[in-house]
Amino acid sequence: MNLRSGRLKDKMSHDAADFTSSLDFDRRIFQADILCNHAHTTMLKEQGIIPSDDAEKILQTLSKLSDEGIDALKMDSSVEDIHMALENYVTDQIGETAGFMHTGKSRNDQVATDLRMVLKEELEKILAEILDFISNILELAEENTETIMVGYTHLQHAQPTTIAHHLLSYGYALKRDYERVQDAYKRVDMCPLGSAALTTTSFPINRDRTRELLGFSKLMENSIDGVSSRDFIAETVSTLAILSSTISKICEEMIIWSTYEFGLVEIDGQYASTSSIMPQKKNPDVAEIARAKTAGVYGELITILTIIKSLPQSYNRDLQELTPHLWNAVDSCHSMVNIISDMLSSLKFNSERGLELAGANFSTATELADLIVKDKKLPFRVAHQIVGRTVSKAIEAGFKPSYINPEYIDIVAHELTGEFLLLDKELVKQALDPEKVVQTRKVVGGPATAEVKESIKQLRIFVQVESGQ
Ligand code: ARG
Repeated sequence: MNLRSGRLKDKMSHDAADFTSSLDFDRRIFQADILCNHAHTTMLKEQGIIPSDDAEKILQTLSKLSDEGIDALKMDSSVEDIHMALENYVTDQIGETAGFMHTGKSRNDQVATDLRMVLKEELEKILAEILDFISNILELAEENTETIMVGYTHLQHAQPTTIAHHLLSYGYALKRDYERVQDAYKRVDMCPLGSAALTTTSFPINRDRTRELLGFSKLMENSIDGVSSRDFIAETVSTLAILSSTISKICEEMIIWSTYEFGLVEIDGQYASTSSIMPQKKNPDVAEIARAKTAGVYGELITILTIIKSLPQSYNRDLQELTPHLWNAVDSCHSMVNIISDMLSSLKFNSERGLELAGANFSTATELADLIVKDKKLPFRVAHQIVGRTVSKAIEAGFKPSYINPEYIDIVAHELTGEFLLLDKELVKQALDPEKVVQTRKVVGGPATAEVKESIKQLRIFVQVESGQ
């Protein structure tokens, strides 16, 4: 059946047909389109809108096509899209009766429905993948609750913490990514079928029945909105863009941490490459590719937002151009989540190096200032100044943090306040010990072992509840 023969005299030029065809990326909605036609035809039959016998023939042919697969369709660009290819198939099989299938339906509501169906499946997969990623992080965290490292601000040594505490920061960021995807899912899970071209139809269709048959939770309440809106795509891809930013940040840290200078982690050879000229090289290529793919996901989001920004309501063919950008973003996220999760699981942490760095550059200075506040009841700003000046003096003199003792602090304290602090030697030693300092951070969300274990437990419960275990 040639769709054009009614209204148009000429065939579309070959180039124009190629240019406008969506067949390539429609492959992805093949099964969804069969289901969509199946549900619509079932409903038409139930409502007595089309003859029962004809409906049965259509339904059987659709099932046959589902078994045969997409290769049974004639997929050249003279056929505009998968919807036409599918209708042509049914027509070839059962003749013009096939035409009943399109009663009270348009490709406009059909494509919007198909996209939502496939996207729901993709999001369910991504959600499961994020949970696996979080589980892997939890395992690593469990093994490293007492592995000391220095935490950074401005990429400068800040305060001691543990690998587990740091890893949990990834875990909780991914939890929010999960929740964002879950939230976007709610607005993908709405059925536009029955909107037809834009104003529904005068046939007494039952939209709620097709919604139910296709497993959607809700209906799109307005038919113009039903066919026009792709904000479910913009919203989904924006959550995916944020998810990819989380992954990219993790990659960035692993790239830095695996340098000779940091020496904090060793990336497994399976996730590294070497140089064609420098035989010594072990490069973190997987993490680098993921970092760059993030830019691709952002690009897809901007493309999508730009396509929809000035479209007049209802269906415009521009909407077709959104689809490949959606799938690009979805595919990038699947691969990034999975591979970076595996890469992270294979990391080896260098605990000695972590401890060395934590003790090398005054990362315990805050605790020393806190000790002065607690022990001598001085305001924090005064303590901050005393310790700041002490550190600066020690650095100038080339002294290591371990050199600092109450007498050394008192030289500065006396200069600044005219008084000696006479701090307890043992307390000063403890305040300068990264392992001891970590254990003092017992506040909710802090790095003390007991607190981190509680955090691990809470996040594990979340994963278990969400994965229905
Ligand atoms: N291939 C189209 C798309 O992906 C399907 C809808 C076509 N509708 C139309 N009126 N030309 O959006």
